[in-house]
Amino acid sequence: MTDRPVIGIFGAGKVGTALARLLVAAGYEVRIAGSPRQTALDLLVSVVAPGAIVTSPEELVAAADVIIVAVPFGKGPTVPWPRFDGKIVVDAMNYWPPIDGRIAEVEADSRSTSELNQARNPAARLVKSLNHLGYHEMEDDSLPPGAALRRALAVVGDDADARAVIARVIDDLGFDPVDGGALAHGRELEPGHPAFGRELSAAELGVLLTPAATRAA
Ligand SMILES: NC(=O)c1ccc[n+]([C@@H]2O[C@H](COP(=O)([O-])OP(=O)(O)OC[C@H]3O[C@@H](n4cnc5c(N)ncnc54)[C@H](OP(=O)(O)O)[C@@H]3O)[C@@H](O)[C@H]2O)c1
Repeated sequence: MTDRPVIGIFGAGKVGTALARLLVAAGYEVRIAGSPRQTALDLLVSVVAPGAIVTSPEELVAAADVIIVAVPFGKGPTVPWPRFDGKIVVDAMNYWPPIDGRIAEVEADSRSTSELNQARNPAARLVKSLNHLGYHEMEDDSLPPGAALRRALAVVGDDADARAVIARVIDDLGFDPVDGGALAHGRELEPGHPAFGRELSAAELGVLLTPAATRAA
């Protein structure tokens, strides 16, 4: 991997295109793959995320050092997880019943949704991040390094090197990265949990990602 990883994004919806815009602006090479149902994706991307390159899923996986999965959680199985061996994969998805419908197996499972996604390919270097702010806030709340009141975003995952790579990407996107440790801590970033959707500093978010601190609060 060179200094700046090539980023591939699955999902050219609200989150995928917002991230593509920000990443291109930050100097990253960005590949993006949409759903087979989307037509004229080249035209759409040239307008909403100029500079990002529309590719097939196969080309995206081959070219990308980092893959961001930004499709509806319920469509997660349609992403080619078996091809993600060794790739750093960012799970930006949330299980959201109004969109995904109620999925009984997910609700009965004590694992975080990112652990469920990790189980789709244990050889992927899965990181959960970018899921706990609104797509519109990705641009609105982005601030340069050192800015006062910079918003924090968490990075959790079982591969410390992968977390470090994504922390650098988060910083380049205009947010303070907070290393939240193991992927299981992703539970604290899911809808309904205190960190979800809140504008927090790095110190405030760090407390919420520390299970003992959360219990003591
Ligand atoms: N909206 C937010 O503010 C926000 C913020 C953070 C995280 N998230 C999470 O991010 C994910 C995406 O949210 P969104 O709001 O961007 O949804 P969205 O606007 O509906 O966009 C998702 C896109 O992914 C496409 N897609 C489905 N399967 C695909 C596949 N296998 N390969 C490539 N593209 C595929 C969908 O196409 P089809 O319609 O044809 O299926 C749709 O165009 C969700 O899991 C959501 O919970 C959302």
